Amino acid sequence: MILIIDFGSQYNQLIARRVREHHVYCQIEPPDIPLDQIRTLQPEGIILSGGPASIYEKGSPKVDPGIFELGIPVLGICYGMQYMVNILGGAVAGSNKREYGFAALTVKDGGGIFRGIEKETTCWMSHGDSIQALPAGFQATAVTDNTPVAAAENREKRFYGFQFHPEVVHTREGMRMLENFLFRVCRCEKSWTMESFARDAVEEIRSQVGSGRVILGLSGGVDSSVAALLLHQAVGDRLTCVFVDNGVLREGEAEKVQDVFRKHYRIRLRFVRAKKVFLDRLKGVADPERKRKIIGRTFIEIFEKEAKSIKGAAFLAQGTLYPDIIESRSAFGGPSAVIKSHHNVGGLPRRMRLKLIEPLKHLFKDEVRLLGRELGLPDEMIWRQPFPGPGLAIRIIGEVTDRRLSILKKADVILQDEIRAAGYYRKLWQSFAVLLPIKSVGIMGDRRTYEHILAIRAVTSDDAMTADWAKLPHDLLGRIANRIINEVRGVNRVVYDISSKPPSTIEWE
Ligand code: XMP
Repeated sequence: MILIIDFGSQYNQLIARRVREHHVYCQIEPPDIPLDQIRTLQPEGIILSGGPASIYEKGSPKVDPGIFELGIPVLGICYGMQYMVNILGGAVAGSNKREYGFAALTVKDGGGIFRGIEKETTCWMSHGDSIQALPAGFQATAVTDNTPVAAAENREKRFYGFQFHPEVVHTREGMRMLENFLFRVCRCEKSWTMESFARDAVEEIRSQVGSGRVILGLSGGVDSSVAALLLHQAVGDRLTCVFVDNGVLREGEAEKVQDVFRKHYRIRLRFVRAKKVFLDRLKGVADPERKRKIIGRTFIEIFEKEAKSIKGAAFLAQGTLYPDIIESRSAFGGPSAVIKSHHNVGGLPRRMRLKLIEPLKHLFKDEVRLLGRELGLPDEMIWRQPFPGPGLAIRIIGEVTDRRLSILKKADVILQDEIRAAGYYRKLWQSFAVLLPIKSVGIMGDRRTYEHILAIRAVTSDDAMTADWAKLPHDLLGRIANRIINEVRGVNRVVYDISSKPPSTIEWE
């Protein structure tokens, strides 16, 4: 395994994903990880990440310098490189010239970590400080116009430093450089596959659960679905999934979940029809945050009641992913300001005195999809676009009523149909319809109409943190609008949302 020390760079998760794409397992840990724990992990190599701080800043992150005595190869990236140089006796200085963006990189020494890299290549820079003097035993191995020490190494000790970011695509041969570090320098084996992960995870779940029973909240999304299959493999009938139909799901969604999990996989499934409770509590509520809170609380209440009736359950399983774990403990930047309170069931296990099992907590989303495929989950579920917990309730602006729900569901079916038929479903991060509470005048046949406006939202994104509106072909948009207006009663106008995130958000509420 490779240990990545998190100095707070926005690219950390990308480094980890790149390493894993090479089938090498890696873990991201905060800088205060004790040296003993590092020894126990027995990493083949350590990557010191970049970060926003300057090493001379008070309180800038530091890792135990003992890592340089372990005989393990170290690769420092940006801040990580400066940290290494400084600790080992070199000099780093602030400069008022920040270097940001593309730079032409000239490789001076084509061996080792630069094996197979072109002499003139490009890299992506993002730094203020730069290296003035290297520690004894180091030599500079690459330069850019502005940075005489763009890369350096002490080949004997196997310490390497890049002032640029090899993990971003703009560094043209960055993948190759990481590959050299992993296999030429660290001598890693390509042993990280979802097949091996599934095998180990099943073993681990079995030893954790013993003869106990497990409950899992199934939403139909890819994370909880994959978690369910994995747990089912591990403990069979001692797993009970609970699915709460809150009435604000997409058309046919609840039935599909029943079909796949109960009929196809024969997994024990408690299916709770709770539409009435949810809609009753949402009556008259227009404020988005109140809607979220009501739906979140009602879900927990129902789930808790259901779970209590499952005799002998001692474990609660959740499909938490690695980014949630990393972000929730990140020492830098802190939790980002709450813009929308996403409901989660974080407090549930403690309240219910259940032990938590999170079998996917070391995986990234793309790995969960691969695992899903490994476990035989249908493609349609593996590639399902994300769907928010409060569901269609936050896509009906204003009050949620049965009638509005029915309009939105019908329009949404048409939208999904057309998007899929045009081959866009997988290319889009999300695509959905939003029902607006305003009416406009139209003309149908010879009659004046006065009906709802429906907005179409389709975005591309990698992680939902930023998103761009999708440049869907005009004829596709035209078809969608045409069908919705003709087939859905109550809508006489369709508009397309062309805002990106930021400054807008993906959902309208
Ligand atoms: P925004 O609208 O904040 O959405 O740009 C980012 C991503 O989060 C999803 N989302 C939610 N998911 N509960 C959820 O489980 C929520 O309350 C919620 N609000 C937004 C949204 O669909 C997008 O993928």
